Amino acid sequence: MGIPWGSSKKSFLCRLNRYEALTAEVFQLEFTWPGPRPRAGQFFMLKPQRSSVFLGRPISMARWKPAGQGDGGVVAFTIAKRGKGTQELAALRCGEAVELTGPLGNYWGALDEEPLQGPLALVGGGIGIAPCAALAEELPGGTFDFYGGFKSLPFGLERLPPHACIIATEDGSYGRKGRILDFLEPARYCRVYACGPEPMLKALADRCKALKVPCFISLERHMACGVGACLGCTVSTLQGNRRCCVDGPIFRAQEVLFDPYP
Ligand SMILES: Cc1cc2nc3c(=O)[nH]c(=O)nc-3n(C[C@H](O)[C@H](O)[C@H](O)COP(=O)(O)OP(=O)(O)OC[C@H]3O[C@@H](n4cnc5c(N)ncnc54)[C@H](O)[C@@H]3O)c2cc1C
Ligand code: FES
Repeated sequence: MGIPWGSSKKSFLCRLNRYEALTAEVFQLEFTWPGPRPRAGQFFMLKPQRSSVFLGRPISMARWKPAGQGDGGVVAFTIAKRGKGTQELAALRCGEAVELTGPLGNYWGALDEEPLQGPLALVGGGIGIAPCAALAEELPGGTFDFYGGFKSLPFGLERLPPHACIIATEDGSYGRKGRILDFLEPARYCRVYACGPEPMLKALADRCKALKVPCFISLERHMACGVGACLGCTVSTLQGNRRCCVDGPIFRAQEVLFDPYP
């Protein structure tokens, strides 16, 4: 049975405060969120008020700035244009209303059984850097290294401490040339937290397993309800099928049964 991580979720119609294009394909949206404080790794369902799509789209919290001690603050999302839903979000203008439902799912560290006794590796591939960047902002400096892998020009790194960042691009246009996993030695870390394309996560899971380094990964699935009701977001694990939206999106890498033909 899933743990109801998202039981404090709420829905609000929020006006878009800020829109920033980061690259031709990636943009950032910022809203004032009056509801419960999200934690890094959690996500929201986003649905513009004027929309031709029926379902909201799950998007990870990329940044959170609290308004004060209690609920409420500014939440930002880093989004890549894919299909109709994300194209609609990309076309929003400041002041337009979007229904935000969240915070949903579990968070980085929720499945950790042992206290942290060493540095963390945060590994983001492409748009998967968003939930890792959110965690980097929650952690004290000096407790992590941030590995970011991109096909070409990077994005979303503005607020990360440069000395803690190892960046690689496949075309060599920025940082080191190659795939980010080529530059990561998991054995140097007490945990690896990662989000990105599933083949990258599978390769990382295999290496961490061989080295006995605990590895936690944030997975993506198509989602309809986002709250555990439709069973549309199955993740196969050693313990049977789990729902990405309420049992995840963060899973122990070694328990996930990856699709051999992604
Ligand atoms: C937890 C989580 C966090 C994410 N965080 C981010 C992020 O920070 N930034 C980012 O850019 N992307 C993120 N994504 C991916 C993002 O949700 C997708 O890119 C987006 O939903 C694609 O929607 P689309 O309409 O643009 O594309 P399309 O692929 O055209 O449409 C996808 C949509 O189709 C519907 N759909 C298709 N198949 C099914 C099915 N089997 N069951 C139910 N519905 C179905 C769903 O509504 C689904 O959302 C995240 C995904 C998850 C699960
Ligand atoms: S999206 Fe409906 S159960 Fe996960």
